[in-house]
Amino acid sequence: MKNIVILISGSGSNMAAIVRAAEQGRWGERLHAHVAAVVSNRADAQGLAFAKDHGIPTAVLDHKAFASREDFDAALMAQIDRFSPDLVVLAGFMRILTPAFVAHYAGRLLNIHPSLLPAFAGLNTHQRAIDAGCRFAGATVHQVTAELDHGQILAQAVVPVLPNDTAQALAARVLTQEHLIYPRAVADFFSRRFG
Ligand code: GAR
Repeated sequence: MKNIVILISGSGSNMAAIVRAAEQGRWGERLHAHVAAVVSNRADAQGLAFAKDHGIPTAVLDHKAFASREDFDAALMAQIDRFSPDLVVLAGFMRILTPAFVAHYAGRLLNIHPSLLPAFAGLNTHQRAIDAGCRFAGATVHQVTAELDHGQILAQAVVPVLPNDTAQALAARVLTQEHLIYPRAVADFFSRRFG
């Protein structure tokens, strides 16, 4: 069985979408893959309760307990590696990762970013898209490389930016699409690689 480890920091709705897709799409049977663990850097991440309800082991590693980014990432790697991951999925994990972490999971580390990359890497993507006068916005699933929000693009979804849109309304519109493309991209990862 191939192991998926999902990293979250907050609501974890993308993680929940992947867990539901794995259940409903019978990934265990069809792809020999399952969500082996959900790891959060915040003890109050709402997504942890969802994972527990679905029988998925969870772990919390508070980044504030570590003196440096390198120390935190080393501990995070040790925690993740307990679950022998074939794929590590960043799902709203709001930490910048060290080059050592990225190298350790090279080729098996995915992220979803709420913009049409390469536009709007970084934070506040929705407000920046509105301010720039974009007619379209969206989300991107990509391989993670050492450079923030770069790496091979695996999937994208496009939504319109509406007149008088707020960042919050646009974020919600984009998020519904994230929930469709991320589970599909994870399933594709396994059918391509192991199917
Ligand atoms: C999602 O919109 C995701 O694309 C974004 O955070 C949100 C997490 O929501 N990620 C980033 O901004 C990464 N830089 P979720 O916790 O409900 O999945």
